[in-house]
Amino acid sequence: MISIPREPLHARVPSTLSGIVEDDLSTLASGASARVCRVAEGHVVKIFHAGVSEEMIAREFAAATLAANCGIAVARPVERLRLKAGRAILYPEIVGPTMMRRMRVRPLHSGSMLRDMAAFHRRIHDCPAPGLRSLREVLRTDIIHGPADPALQQAALRLLDGLPDGDRLLHGDFHVKNILVTQGGPVAIDWSKAARGAVTPDMLRTEMLMRFGEGPQDWLTNRTRDWAARCYADHYRRIAPAHLAQVPEWRAIVALAWLRARAPVRQKAFLAYLNRALMDVGLTVTTG
Ligand SMILES: Nc1ncnc2c1ncn2[C@@H]1O[C@H](COP(=O)(O)OP(=O)(O)OP(=O)(O)O)[C@@H](O)[C@H]1O
Ligand SMILES: [Mg+2]
Repeated sequence: MISIPREPLHARVPSTLSGIVEDDLSTLASGASARVCRVAEGHVVKIFHAGVSEEMIAREFAAATLAANCGIAVARPVERLRLKAGRAILYPEIVGPTMMRRMRVRPLHSGSMLRDMAAFHRRIHDCPAPGLRSLREVLRTDIIHGPADPALQQAALRLLDGLPDGDRLLHGDFHVKNILVTQGGPVAIDWSKAARGAVTPDMLRTEMLMRFGEGPQDWLTNRTRDWAARCYADHYRRIAPAHLAQVPEWRAIVALAWLRARAPVRQKAFLAYLNRALMDVGLTVTTG
């Protein structure tokens, strides 16, 4: 079981870092939930936006620590901090571009990077994570609080009840902007959506994020996104066929649950995908 400090323990920050953290923040990158600033000694702080829950920050710390303990290439969290700029996690700096950037710069290497990504995801899935929240519960909550009509919700929840449990480590947001490419290979960051459960929905979520997640959506990029998602998923299937089970059922559940919090990127294409997924398992189609 991972223990998470309830309160930041400034005394535990390496002495060379204390003080510098507050005074010398230069933003390295920002995301939807945080900005990441370089501090001294090859470290960064991820400073969360005010709206991010304590639970989410604790989960990111716990899941990244668990992954590191399991031998997965991650930035191992050092410390939780409460800075003037906000609540933060101190991490070692990972030197290398995101996989998305790398693929843009080296398009001819995209196929091999996506195969590396699938192999990396499979290694993550080899880790047990009994202490994390259950993905089944996350999906259940998202369906109940999502926009689908009550009859479809009930049918989907019955379907979900019949799907197997699992205790694997699931990243929950494994896409090309949450992987940094270093000289030593890919490193997974941003564990705030991690959970435990069956592997299939985590693989399908990655496939969906690559196709319909946030990012550019012009015609050419969309074709590239669809190709990249296929390349990743085909390789995952090839190297770990036994990991995947009840794909159509999980596809319908994961897509329906995503309706709750989705940015309207490629909305028409996503709704067509969702409706096909629902029909494949005999669920009523949504309009839109
Ligand atoms: N340990 C690290 N070392 C170097 N750069 C990092 C590190 N952690 C994060 N970054 C940079 O900061 C960016 C945002 O980090 P992260 O994905 O953790 O934030 P986020 O706000 O949760 O993202 P999202 O937009 O996915 O919600 C990354 O894409 C990466 O460029
Ligand atoms: Mg991120």
